[in-house]
Amino acid sequence: MLTIKKLTKAFGPNVAVDKADIQIDRPAMIGIIGRSGAGKSTLLRMLNRLSDATSGQMIFEGRDITGLTGHDKRAWQSECAMIFQQFNLVPRMDVVSNVLHGTLNRRSTLTTMFNLFPTADIHRAIDILDRLGIAEHGPKRAEALSGGQQQRVAIARALMQDPKIILADEPIASLDPMNAQVVMQSLRRIHEEDGRMVIANLHTLDTARRYCDRVIGMRDGRIVFDGTPEQLTTGVARDIYGADDSFNEAYTSTEIQTLNRVPA
Ligand SMILES: Nc1ncnc2c1ncn2[C@@H]1O[C@H](COP(=O)(O)OP(=O)(O)OP(=O)(O)O)[C@@H](O)[C@H]1O
Ligand SMILES: [Mg+2]
Repeated sequence: MLTIKKLTKAFGPNVAVDKADIQIDRPAMIGIIGRSGAGKSTLLRMLNRLSDATSGQMIFEGRDITGLTGHDKRAWQSECAMIFQQFNLVPRMDVVSNVLHGTLNRRSTLTTMFNLFPTADIHRAIDILDRLGIAEHGPKRAEALSGGQQQRVAIARALMQDPKIILADEPIASLDPMNAQVVMQSLRRIHEEDGRMVIANLHTLDTARRYCDRVIGMRDGRIVFDGTPEQLTTGVARDIYGADDSFNEAYTSTEIQTLNRVPA
């Protein structure tokens, strides 16, 4: 389904992603873990084509997406919706309109300018919000919602694109534990019920274990682990994070940054 071959991104002399190989045969829920600076965001950004690869290849359902430009690139970007740690909503705009913005890439500038949305889209937006348990907040400004609710609005906006893949860059890093669970459960449901692929950068190991079928571990730009949560033992995790014996599974990648580092 998705093949990533020797994908590399260099920023000058700094290689952020180093010959990454990933093969995904069917829609799965995949967590990417690793220290801060390991290259997790850079990998997702290349996949979504927010950032161009320095070398290597990405093939989705037989189509090379590495060098798409213009309309083809935008079409690809709507097939793999991205959600971010900071939600990226328009704070002063109502929730339903924020969700409707997920359809922007297939609408004309004129209808966009006048905020004209087809009735069918409005109904769909409300249905999606309902599915995520936040339909009642539809008329409110996005900024009036809690962080967990705002992230669900961002997921709803992504679903408006009807994407095959949802890429999530640390979707719960700004949320309290309760809201984090609700958001992860929403992503899990979208994966299970709709058969969409979900690839999420996660800053805690226990979240990756609990919600993902497969975990990819990155260290210094390289993929150093790719397996099931069961295969991800504490020893392996310590290796991924390059941490010594003081490593604790509940740490976040930011906290791990301050731990003693074991040389690769
Ligand atoms: N636009 C950029 N220009 C220069 N260097 C960059 C850029 N983006 C990322 N890098 C570098 O690439 C490396 C990987 O960064 P990346 O943001 O992918 O890490 P990450 O695993 O997502 O970290 P975090 O957990 O902190 O989000 C880092 O060394 C970073 O400084
Ligand atoms: Mg990151």
